[in-house]
Amino acid sequence: RDLINKHAIFASINQVVDYEKASLVATDLGFEPSLSTMTENPAVRGERPLSANEAMMASRDGENMVTIPPVVTIMGHVDHGKTSLLDTIRKTKVAAGEAGGITQHIGAYQVEVNGKKITFLDTPGHEAFTAMRARGAQVTHIAIIVVAADDGVMPQTREAIDHARAAKVPIIIALNKIDKANANPDRVKQQLAEIGVVIEEYGGDTVCVPISARRGEGIDELLDYILLVAEVQDIKANPNRLATGVIIEARLEKNSGATATVLVQQGTLKMGDNIVVGPIAGKVRAMFNDRGKRIQKAAPSTPVSILGLPEVPNAGDRLEVTPDERTAKQQAEAEAEKRATEAMPLGQVSLDTLYMQMQ
Ligand code: GTP
Ligand code: MG
Repeated sequence: RDLINKHAIFASINQVVDYEKASLVATDLGFEPSLSTMTENPAVRGERPLSANEAMMASRDGENMVTIPPVVTIMGHVDHGKTSLLDTIRKTKVAAGEAGGITQHIGAYQVEVNGKKITFLDTPGHEAFTAMRARGAQVTHIAIIVVAADDGVMPQTREAIDHARAAKVPIIIALNKIDKANANPDRVKQQLAEIGVVIEEYGGDTVCVPISARRGEGIDELLDYILLVAEVQDIKANPNRLATGVIIEARLEKNSGATATVLVQQGTLKMGDNIVVGPIAGKVRAMFNDRGKRIQKAAPSTPVSILGLPEVPNAGDRLEVTPDERTAKQQAEAEAEKRATEAMPLGQVSLDTLYMQMQ
């Protein structure tokens, strides 16, 4: 706190400060802060706001940084085949090794391709994703833009591309439904070029993979490209620290209470961890992977559903593990107070709520 005062940063322990300020404090403490990579993608650089607590931990990441699975978001216009694409990927890559099959449908999945994991987020007019998108697509490392070859570039295709660009997230075009009689791939490529997305075939640098989610064509090629782009980005995180993540979706379940799907971003989330999500403090009392299997811990880029929050958190809110229960409660209280003071006067509409209403 003294150091933060010294730099004239008005922040309490749970308040968010930017990387620059955090690194000033870390330097004063004798650490050498550094960003994980030089890429422009903020999710890869870890360049999202850090709480003072987190900044302290980040300063010790150093040699603990390891390559993590890329988080790949599937975006695109309604009915262009986003969910079908994910279903096909899961059928070919998940079902084989994992008996018991898929029991949950949480919109976040992890698959393994040639021994490498990829985390996928579906975005079906997804409230959770709306919130995330509005925050600058901070969680995703790669965006797959699905465009139906018969329908072409549509308003939400453009919107999805705009979001990915704004967040400086690399784009891969999945040109879907090429099995259809009226598919017109050349027209789509032309339309893409018109909005500045020039594919390799046309001399640009955007990868475009023709696929049929229905017939399973082009899927392996698409997955290979994802791994290639991920490798170039060099996506890293430190699994050896208290976890942080983001709420993908949350709901109230009859028997188990508040259930939240969390994407772990840093550290390893463990059973029994004290957690704080916005104004809610809790404890990880049960944890399940994307196939509904009970697990004890979750490394970075793993989507999990957790029980142990006394209330349903907001999608898009950050989850943070705290060293103890008291800290979690204090942070939750401070956040509740902050939100109460920041609450908007009636009648005023934020960008977030606007987006939600548009969905
Ligand atoms: P929203 O989540 O509502 O935005 O839609 P989506 O993009 O997830 O589309 P979804 O996967 O639900 O597919 C929409 C329709 O297109 C379904 O009827 C699919 O069966 C069909 N479809 C998806 N992929 C293909 C494909 O490769 N070929 C053909 N012929 N149909 C497809
Ligand atoms: Mg869908």
